[in-house]
Amino acid sequence: MWGGRFAEGPSAIMREINASIPFDKVLWQQDIDGSHAHVAMLAKQGIISSADAAQIDAGLAQVAAEFEADGVPEDWDLEDIHMTVEARLTELIGPVAGRLHTARSRNDQVATDFKLWVRGATDRALDGISALQQALVTRAGEHAQNVMPGFTHLQTAQPVTLGHHLMAYYEMLRRDASRFGDARARANECPLGAAALAGTGFDLDRAMTAEALGFAQPTANSLDTVSDRDFALDYLMAASQCALHLSRLAEELILWASQPFGFVRLPDSLSTGSSIMPQKKNPDAAELVRGHAGRIVGATTALMVTMKGLPLAYSKDMQDDKPPVFEAAGLLDLCLAAMEGMIGGAEFNTNRMRQAAGLGHATATDLADWLVRAANIPFREAHHITGAAVKLADSKGCTLEDLSLDDLKGIDTRLTEDVRAVLTLDASVAARCSYGGTAPDQVSAQVTAARRALGMEN
Ligand code: ARG
Repeated sequence: MWGGRFAEGPSAIMREINASIPFDKVLWQQDIDGSHAHVAMLAKQGIISSADAAQIDAGLAQVAAEFEADGVPEDWDLEDIHMTVEARLTELIGPVAGRLHTARSRNDQVATDFKLWVRGATDRALDGISALQQALVTRAGEHAQNVMPGFTHLQTAQPVTLGHHLMAYYEMLRRDASRFGDARARANECPLGAAALAGTGFDLDRAMTAEALGFAQPTANSLDTVSDRDFALDYLMAASQCALHLSRLAEELILWASQPFGFVRLPDSLSTGSSIMPQKKNPDAAELVRGHAGRIVGATTALMVTMKGLPLAYSKDMQDDKPPVFEAAGLLDLCLAAMEGMIGGAEFNTNRMRQAAGLGHATATDLADWLVRAANIPFREAHHITGAAVKLADSKGCTLEDLSLDDLKGIDTRLTEDVRAVLTLDASVAARCSYGGTAPDQVSAQVTAARRALGMEN
């Protein structure tokens, strides 16, 4: 019925919808590595002759040299990187190239290539996380004593130290590194040799190819192997959680760099100006880290939805696994590097932070705790008495420390001059010396332990 109009159309559309070479060409190195491993194994097993294997090896090396020098040609008729490598190999060495694909399918090939790529991206993420952690730990060590307001509900809660605040992000990143490490360990099985879906009748040595490619062992079920993209999802989920952490840190830097806060000056090299307002310096890098987290989470969602309804084994939908992973990995690498630069180059205004920590009766809890300790008053009652002191200070427009002894006695006779010592910011943070607390001693101990864990000098 529509043949007249569509006679040429469908094949052009088919070429376009089918071609993955525009994005999977980045896998060329992994594809050639996998082929070297496969051909060596085929020769050792006597499946192809060593003379043929040597020719194929030399040809693959030449293809690699060409792609390295000139980039990968993009011919939609060749569909993907696997066919692109094989086609060039055939041009270079002739029909013997056809022996390379013995006992192999693009299905186990793509799973192998992609897993190798994701493993590299995982290692990059781990390096980027470590570099950012080192920056955080360095700054935390410098600011273990410096006081700032600690917030809950973004309302002043209790004073904390800046070092403690920065080390909170060190901890988040420690969990991120652990997640990437888990992902890497789970991805340590080699798909090569699963063939199209059912395995093969050729006498393969799958342990040999696994070892050659740096995997611990071959995968155990060929159907699962060609339909599994858990390794990509593991990467994306670890990346998403890491991106959420970076986004939260970015959000804090954006707030802190704003004039009403004035807690930090971000490096000029990671800020921009305004085309109209000459005074402006905008924290664009931080805003983009916050924004990119949305795209990374979106990439994760995209692949989960791609995979959710697929029957075993391979379906072409799975070709769509790569763009989200490539996008997320590129963004995550950038975000980690940008955050490292911002933390390393941030100038913290510690005077301003101290001043802000003195607002909002941040040491009220210390007053209540003193009543519990010095006068043996139940905490709930101490809370009530302290509330009255806060109310009085507010009505007088002063701080708790500024209340006179008469004022204090008027609230509760058990309050004495001694209470003043616990109301200062420094006394307040020093008192929070429980394990993991904000006291400078605790923070310094955490910094020392973190430096050791990161392999930094102490
Ligand atoms: N370009 C394909 C992909 O990325 C390679 C696997 C093709 N397999 C197939 N049976 N058509 O998934």
